Amino acid sequence: MGRSDAIEQRVQSPSCLRGTVVVPGDKSISHRAAILNALASGPAKVEGFLVGEDTRATLDCLRALGVEWSLEQAGRAGTTLCIRGPGLRGLRESEDILDARNSGTTMRLLAGVLAACPFFSVLTGDGSLRSRPMSRVVTPLREMGARVWGRGDGAYPPLAIRGGELQGIHHRMPVASAQVKSALLLAGLFADGETAVEEPAPTRDHTERMLRAMGAQLSGEAGLVRIRPLNGHELTPLDVRVPGDISAAAFWMVAAALHPDAELHLPGVGVNRTRSGIIDVLRKMGAALDLTEEREQGGEPVADLTVRSSRLTPVEVRGDLVPRLIDEIPVLAVAAALTPGRTIVRDAAELRVKESDRIATTCGELRRLGAHVEELPDGLAIEGVASLTGARCESHGDHRLAMALGVAGLLARGETIIDGAGAAEVSYPGFWKDLALLASSGRVAQ
Ligand code: S3P
Repeated sequence: MGRSDAIEQRVQSPSCLRGTVVVPGDKSISHRAAILNALASGPAKVEGFLVGEDTRATLDCLRALGVEWSLEQAGRAGTTLCIRGPGLRGLRESEDILDARNSGTTMRLLAGVLAACPFFSVLTGDGSLRSRPMSRVVTPLREMGARVWGRGDGAYPPLAIRGGELQGIHHRMPVASAQVKSALLLAGLFADGETAVEEPAPTRDHTERMLRAMGAQLSGEAGLVRIRPLNGHELTPLDVRVPGDISAAAFWMVAAALHPDAELHLPGVGVNRTRSGIIDVLRKMGAALDLTEEREQGGEPVADLTVRSSRLTPVEVRGDLVPRLIDEIPVLAVAAALTPGRTIVRDAAELRVKESDRIATTCGELRRLGAHVEELPDGLAIEGVASLTGARCESHGDHRLAMALGVAGLLARGETIIDGAGAAEVSYPGFWKDLALLASSGRVAQ
């Protein structure tokens, strides 16, 4: 599999959107299931593992560090990752640089692990990742005692790390970031003394859930997570079944809520509260969105979702809600573009340092389709229009923008052509196939 951003996709609005879409496994949980099991001692099976470009980057880095794994097709259950962790001190120096490609999660989480490994590592990435901020993770890792270098005194990749003995710290994160929190918790597993991480707003807690299930000692109160080192103990390998990715499901939620004749079923979607902001916001806007069969799977809450055509009203999104739907803002902007009235997103300056500057790129591309979008320093102001008009637009190499534009194409008049559509491979390799099936027949047979 390789990423071919050059691919162009043409999308038209179908007369109806009906059926069931089984979305791929959650990207954040898949990364963590691979990395944490690579630190454990013994074999584990991860069902429903997302095989996307980002998670492949993680797996390839782990192999270079001496971790054995294989991927097995498991029919309807998707792909199973079989991985054998060599134990907490079992990683070995890679012969070559480690390439995180487009994946911020790979680079930041592995930086936390490698800071504790007594050898030399270099982490790099593609052009987008090499322009994303790393001081947020480099600074506290240095404070723990790691030797880390990077361009701009550690501000940007490539990062060179010479790991070793670490001391626990109490770190107050200036920005809410689950990747930074996770990197420090992983480093904290190896450190001398307790490591505490304070977050300005709650971020996804998949690392904490999984580490606890593997026997790590975590405690916490609101906005503060503490981890104690393992002191000679090993992490227990964890068999998990990865829930469907709510960030992938969000594309279909918006498509169904905005299309005039739609009913889509999305079974087995992760609805962890730290991720489910998009459900709260769409419901607040008036979306007919039902959750059924709420259950727990692999230590995470999961539900079946049904979304139907709805009449939406505008909302304001800001504050603590933002980290709960940070990756869904491009597709939320598509919903807002077709919702009468003014929708406002604030406190989301982090969007400027994602796979693209998502404030600028979302604004620019939706405008090409006739949306009324205003760029704010930390968000977007969107005045809903009665209809969008298909046009040629561009993903900017950003998977979430490519897919948000695909959804806009399902709702616009005429044809929408998305350049660089192959970027979707990063998190949802079957996205265009699912979209084509829905658009041609109004159904996706699963
Ligand atoms: C992620 C955390 C978020 C999110 C990213 C995945 C993770 O990034 O935007 O897509 O898996 O921890 P930040 O940690 O930069 O907020």
